[in-house]
Amino acid sequence: MARILTGIQSSGVPHLGNILGAILPAIKISKESGNESFFFIADLHSFTSIKEASVRRYNTNAVAAAWVAFGFDTDKNILYRQSKVAEVCELSWYLNCLTPYPMLANAHSFKDKSGKLADVNAGLFTYPVLMAADILLYNANYVPVGKDQIQHLEITRDIALKFNSLYGETFVVPEAITDTQVMIVPGTDGQKMSKSYHNFIDIFKADNELLKDIKSIVTDSLPLEAPKDPEACNVFKIYKLIANDEQINTMRNNYIKGGYGYGHAKKELYELIVSKFATQREEFKFLMSNESALYHILEKGENKAREYAQDTLSVVRKKLGYS
Ligand code: ADP
Ligand code: TRP
Repeated sequence: MARILTGIQSSGVPHLGNILGAILPAIKISKESGNESFFFIADLHSFTSIKEASVRRYNTNAVAAAWVAFGFDTDKNILYRQSKVAEVCELSWYLNCLTPYPMLANAHSFKDKSGKLADVNAGLFTYPVLMAADILLYNANYVPVGKDQIQHLEITRDIALKFNSLYGETFVVPEAITDTQVMIVPGTDGQKMSKSYHNFIDIFKADNELLKDIKSIVTDSLPLEAPKDPEACNVFKIYKLIANDEQINTMRNNYIKGGYGYGHAKKELYELIVSKFATQREEFKFLMSNESALYHILEKGENKAREYAQDTLSVVRKKLGYS
């Protein structure tokens, strides 16, 4: 049996890029027989950047609701908020004391962020150690992550190997899974869709707001009659990632033959999102307005995760002479 573990920070409501690039592929892996998945909302990591309590609470609920709405099976697997299994903070401290300072100082993500952000706090610096604790606490075998997280997985492996060599076999040394097939979803301006670029499509927004965002997708200014190149158009690029073959061919032909404007394409993209994700949007809305139903699902996972975490920690404490 393989244990799959991954986390998504609660730093915003998951957008179409997060859904197609991270949530759906992870759910697909979780459905493979023999896999057991631990998926969590990295709400402790989000404190490195988000300081407002109400914002974090909302985002944490939104990430959890998105996992559930997209069909993550919370009976077979474990869904939890990172902060609700506080054992991770204790393990993180032990791992901090085994992590060489230069390894963190040289991490790309830290160097990149510390050059850009006004708030360069120590949490940002030790972020990869908390991430290592997330993974090692549950002895995960595989960790699906985006390319930007590969170095954090290498740090996790180094820390696990160091612990194992000092204190005897304790932790599973995990492997990253980065699906090179996974699409990079473009944003409304054609760059990679990202919270930080404000170019994202939030499919959970109310119909009129969603339509407004889709209308903001940047296109060239060819007139309606002109034949257009579908592959060069941001609307078509997004449509292609969610439509079926027949829908894609129809839109492609419409672009090529002309007499079809970007307004038409945007309306079709909007209608496709609304129909394709109707159930998920409904479920998300329900969970976001019924916090107790959402927390009921999360607490089920948190109780199981905590039990697992306590077992790991009792082994670790013994090895370190704390019990
Ligand atoms: P953001 O860039 O919006 O801050 P995150 O870095 O929080 O997104 O990413 C969370 C997950 O979603 C990661 O696994 C990341 O690889 C994936 N992801 C983010 N943006 C995209 C995108 N545009 N296309 C595909 N996957 C994405
Ligand atoms: N750092 C990851 C990201 O920003 C989120 C994360 C935190 C994570 N802990 C993790 C991912 C453990 C995988 C495993 O995308």
